[in-house]
Amino acid sequence: DHDPLVIFTPSGKRGHFPKGTPVLTAARQLGVDLDSVCGGRGICSKCQITPSYGEFPKHGVTVRDGALSDWNSVEQRYDDKRGLTKGRRLGCQAQVQGDIVIDVPESSQVHKQVVRKRVEARDITLNPSTKLYYVEVEQPDMHEPSGDLERLIKALRHDWDLPALEVDLGLLKTLQPTLRKGEWKVTCAVHLGDNMFGPRIMHIWPGFYDGTVYGLAVDLGSTTIAGHLCDLATGEVVASSGIMNPQIRFGEDLMSRVSYSMMNPGGAEEMTRAVREGMNSLFVQIASEAEIDRDLIVDAVFVCNPVMHHLFLGIDPFELGQAPFALATSEALSLRAIELELNLHPAARVYILPCIAGHVGADAAAVALSEAPDKSEDLVLVVDVGTNAEILLGNKDKVLACSSPTGPAFEGAQISSGQRAAPGAIERVEIDPVTKEPRFRVIGSDVWSDEDGFDEVIASTGITGICGSGIIEMVAEMRMAGIVDGPGLIGSPEQTGTSRCFQDGRTYSYMVYDDPERPITVTNRDIREIQMAKAALYSGARLLMDKFGVDTVDRVVLAGAFGAHISPKHAMVLGMIPDAPLDKVTSAGNAAGTGARIALLNTKARAEIEQTVHDIHKIETAIEPRFQEHFVNASNIPNAVESFPNLF
Ligand code: FES
Repeated sequence: DHDPLVIFTPSGKRGHFPKGTPVLTAARQLGVDLDSVCGGRGICSKCQITPSYGEFPKHGVTVRDGALSDWNSVEQRYDDKRGLTKGRRLGCQAQVQGDIVIDVPESSQVHKQVVRKRVEARDITLNPSTKLYYVEVEQPDMHEPSGDLERLIKALRHDWDLPALEVDLGLLKTLQPTLRKGEWKVTCAVHLGDNMFGPRIMHIWPGFYDGTVYGLAVDLGSTTIAGHLCDLATGEVVASSGIMNPQIRFGEDLMSRVSYSMMNPGGAEEMTRAVREGMNSLFVQIASEAEIDRDLIVDAVFVCNPVMHHLFLGIDPFELGQAPFALATSEALSLRAIELELNLHPAARVYILPCIAGHVGADAAAVALSEAPDKSEDLVLVVDVGTNAEILLGNKDKVLACSSPTGPAFEGAQISSGQRAAPGAIERVEIDPVTKEPRFRVIGSDVWSDEDGFDEVIASTGITGICGSGIIEMVAEMRMAGIVDGPGLIGSPEQTGTSRCFQDGRTYSYMVYDDPERPITVTNRDIREIQMAKAALYSGARLLMDKFGVDTVDRVVLAGAFGAHISPKHAMVLGMIPDAPLDKVTSAGNAAGTGARIALLNTKARAEIEQTVHDIHKIETAIEPRFQEHFVNASNIPNAVESFPNLF
């Protein structure tokens, strides 16, 4: 003879409530995550729940028929108009009548988990910046004069417990007609605020708005800009798109862009304009792909390296081009899209992740957010391979970070037959250790060069060069086949026993593909370039290991678009990364992009990464004497002093 017991799953939260309590009310009182946009008016259907009946020994209750009230007219009307899935009830209408077990399906949770493909990576909990709220506003009254905005804010406070809200002029201008059109019923998109701005009404719609609002996660790279458009209510990626960074015309790599700005008055402004224009055309592209209005994009998160960061913000990157590489600010930034001339919703917000150091940018912070070394039990080395490698080493006790100037060799630049990853580029290589004959595969085909059908590949794409991951495999295979020695010299035909090695000036080269028009060769200079790049990468990692006081790591994560294509074995044979069990070397794909998506969907993660970045120990490789020592040793393939027990 007690008040009925209500048990919610999956949270397990429980409590006694008087008969007649709506399920939504019970959920709110217990702090159960049950969504609602209409505030219990039976309009939005976000509050759907599934009651269970029968014996529940685990919970110690028996749920009888009639434990929930029958459908009322509101629920009936909803079902007639839009149809409720069988077994589902509207939590705001169904009332508790007896002991009951109630499941809150994923689709009714505000803070649902967003699915991520990789198992070892952290989950994304949905905690979006902007949410929709439906309210009914009091009409104006001559006896109690007050503005329409004040009554709207009062309704939002009363129904939703929202604090004082700000609005901008744009919203104010649409307020009166919207309230009247909706007959004093409106839906508001409210940005809940962050550490820089207070909560704010972003947009209003007349009546109940049955749609959603969107956010953008943007990875602003020096070569490409990639954007993911996410539904802020479900966390889903609804469209993804990318463009080349239009700044490429000012210089392929970052340092040449910094020098462009130093040598040309107004150069930095020009590059800022270019990247913002590029960004806006990306937004047009992505919105049309998703078939939505750009005005529905209310939030955006950006990750980028320090130079892109400054150029995007319109800050001259001059100081980043010279020691001591001071950033204008390393803090996270919360800005208005309009300040950056971005064409999104006029009140849209922009969040830029913090930078770790002058050479370790917001992109590395995003990688840290995605790969979460600070939450890892085992010691993990995360390497974002690019023209400037960003390296993190750590576990839950401590995380260290540095960057290392690898140069553009891994992107195929400065390699005689090197090219960007594109159809026709060699990406996979094997060299027979006995005959020293190569076989290879090019991007855009899965036929190897010694298989039937390869002629068709040549006919369609030709063999145009070797891409970055291809050159890594090439040099590692040449080393394993004895064509290249430890110090990095290509042997003569006599030494190697193959006529593919040929005299080329004062050194030897290796003929990969003997096309009279466009032969593909690897020269000794190419080997040198790769040695320098991989030595820089390895020494950065090794330096962090010194600082950590370890000689081995438990696992290695290769991040970045390029990292996704590197073969772990070949990277290790080359001595690019330290020794680790091969099955513990994994690729994280575009971890920086994923980090941006996490920060977009979970505003709590923003505060978390800001704290993590504060706690990361930054190591400046340029002033560490041991870096040079490691670099010299690491120039050998794989290394002059380190051993690789997992390989040899
Ligand atoms: Fe909107 Fe129940 S809360 S329908």
